[in-house]
Amino acid sequence: MKLVLLLFLLTISVSTVIAFQNPIIPGFNPDPSIIRVNDDYFLATSSFEYFPGIPIYHSKDLIDWEVIGHALSRPSQLHMRGTAPSGGMFAPTLRYHENRIYMISTWFDIISPPDNTTRMPRSMYVYTDNIWDDSSWSDPIYVDQYGMDPDLFFDDDGKVYLTTTFGSEGLGYPDSGYFAIWTTEIDIETGDSLTESKFSHASSLTNPRLSEGAHLSKRDGTYYLITAESGTDDGHKAMQFRSSSVWGPWEGNPHNPLLFNGRNRSNPILATGHMDLVETSAGDSYVVFLATRNGTGFNQLGRETFLAPANWTDDGWLVVNNGQDITFEMPGLYDLARPTSWRDDFEGGFTDKRWYTTRTPYKKFHKFTEEGLEIRGNVYTLDDRETPAAFFRKQEDLSVIWSSDVSFDPTSPRHEAGLTIFLSNWYHNEIGITLHPNTTQRALVAKTRTGPEATLTTTYTEDIPDGAITLLIKAEPKTYSLGYALENQEPVWVTSLESRWLQAFVTGWQNFVGAHFGLYATGNQLPILQPATFAFVQTELINDESW
Ligand SMILES: *[C@@H]1O[C@H](CO)[C@@H](O)[C@H](O)[C@H]1NC(C)=O
Ligand SMILES: *[C@@H]1O[C@H](CO)[C@@H](O)[C@H](O)[C@H]1NC(C)=O
Ligand SMILES: *[C@@H]1O[C@H](CO)[C@@H](O)[C@H](O)[C@H]1NC(C)=O
Ligand SMILES: *[C@@H]1O[C@H](CO)[C@@H](O)[C@H](O)[C@H]1NC(C)=O
Ligand SMILES: *[C@@H]1O[C@H](CO)[C@@H](O)[C@H](O)[C@H]1NC(C)=O
Repeated sequence: MKLVLLLFLLTISVSTVIAFQNPIIPGFNPDPSIIRVNDDYFLATSSFEYFPGIPIYHSKDLIDWEVIGHALSRPSQLHMRGTAPSGGMFAPTLRYHENRIYMISTWFDIISPPDNTTRMPRSMYVYTDNIWDDSSWSDPIYVDQYGMDPDLFFDDDGKVYLTTTFGSEGLGYPDSGYFAIWTTEIDIETGDSLTESKFSHASSLTNPRLSEGAHLSKRDGTYYLITAESGTDDGHKAMQFRSSSVWGPWEGNPHNPLLFNGRNRSNPILATGHMDLVETSAGDSYVVFLATRNGTGFNQLGRETFLAPANWTDDGWLVVNNGQDITFEMPGLYDLARPTSWRDDFEGGFTDKRWYTTRTPYKKFHKFTEEGLEIRGNVYTLDDRETPAAFFRKQEDLSVIWSSDVSFDPTSPRHEAGLTIFLSNWYHNEIGITLHPNTTQRALVAKTRTGPEATLTTTYTEDIPDGAITLLIKAEPKTYSLGYALENQEPVWVTSLESRWLQAFVTGWQNFVGAHFGLYATGNQLPILQPATFAFVQTELINDESW
């Protein structure tokens, strides 16, 4: 009887708890921007030096998201050569107007390091009338006003406004902090400014004084401005302002900051901010924003996309999550179980669109054969600020094993192919097949790069059998282990490193990306004729994600 009662109570509690899990899009997915088109939601995130640029996610319910393509998938749209780590495509805005979807973003192709030169670029937008088809996105249209975190706002009188972020101290606004917000009306056909650029808003918050990530909208005849303030680290906040004019002056929401988990720096979720707003067809409001998981004190997954319910007060202000901190479990919608494993057998193609290269490839370096994915190495290695022959996938879970069967017959110690856990061309770690430099016998090589100078440590494993070898990377909250498994034997872990080196800052510049798993082959400065074949890749969650 007791058991029956217990089961009854369990059933009640399970069926009455309606909750969804954050992050809604795990792994490196910062600066989300969202639209609803009838019953479909589309969401774009930043992609930095990874190609194709600006992933487009689709969902019917705000919870279950799939990548349907990318806004920038042709060299005529995005030709990244030598782009610095955490340069490339910055925060996008996605907007829908008269059956057309626009994506505006900023391409930083000159950004420190190593030459300490950062140039503030002009933003560009592309548009499509069929978001399901990658090739339908237009070539870029450049705007006149410079600045990053661009926003497009289509007013109900047909006018279109561009809002961007840039330093304004030297432009007659000495008390505007590092970055402030400016607006200009533009011609959407040409991108040309139709009015002079006008100063719109500076942050009144300090530490650091930054106002970025603007999104303009209109509700009941009033203009609203959302901003991301105090930088993208633990002090990150979302703010809201309103005005009777699109140019301001702006009155602050009395509930500001609308998002700020950093009041308590021990919070397991931090850096909440860079928010965009969406309304369901039923009239409910939700916000998407970036945040980091801080359970280990680090965030090797980068900035991920989170969701929270929001409400409008009777006097016309937005309140997010009733003013409460953002948590992993949030009220409403439904709980989608994360898959515990995933596998790609490379049967004639990739199973999904979540594969990336670093920077724009010169040309194709792979094909699909009966045996799997064949990668032909090129002259670049993963150290180069270039496009090595490598495919990357975002690390989405903290505790996961990534594996592949790799066949490779190197004929020089320069030749190498295998698996990597990769943040940038500075910080990345490999387990691969090569020739030992002294014996010229086939061997496994493990390479880690740790410490503030990304110091290389190399370990060789000799006496490996001929044929395919299963290579493994085990991710855990605090460590990564690199190893291999021989047929019917337990894994051998050759080396490990602290996860913190996969969230490392690049000297002289911030890290804006997250860790990626990858498959690579290289000839290391000389072309290589022998391809490497990857029979499959698979990820398996190790256990639950609790810390
Ligand atoms: C860049 O700046 C750093 C720190 O200020 C300095 O050490 C370095 O020499 C500079 N590099 C160049 C190429 O100017
Ligand atoms: C801060 O957050 C931690 C972790 O969630 C919690 O244990 C602690 O009680 C919080 N402190 C305050 C003052 O709310
Ligand atoms: C807040 O919005 C949610 C939907 O997002 C709705 O279910 C709820 O009733 C609203 N709460 C208030 C107090 O209006
Ligand atoms: C992150 O989490 C760690 C471990 O729980 C905690 O010590 C630290 O205060 C948190 N905040 C930061 C900024 O690391
Ligand atoms: C190759 O041999 C040299 C000379 O004996 C030795 O110093 C070096 O460590 C060896 N390299 C490896 C990778 O074993």
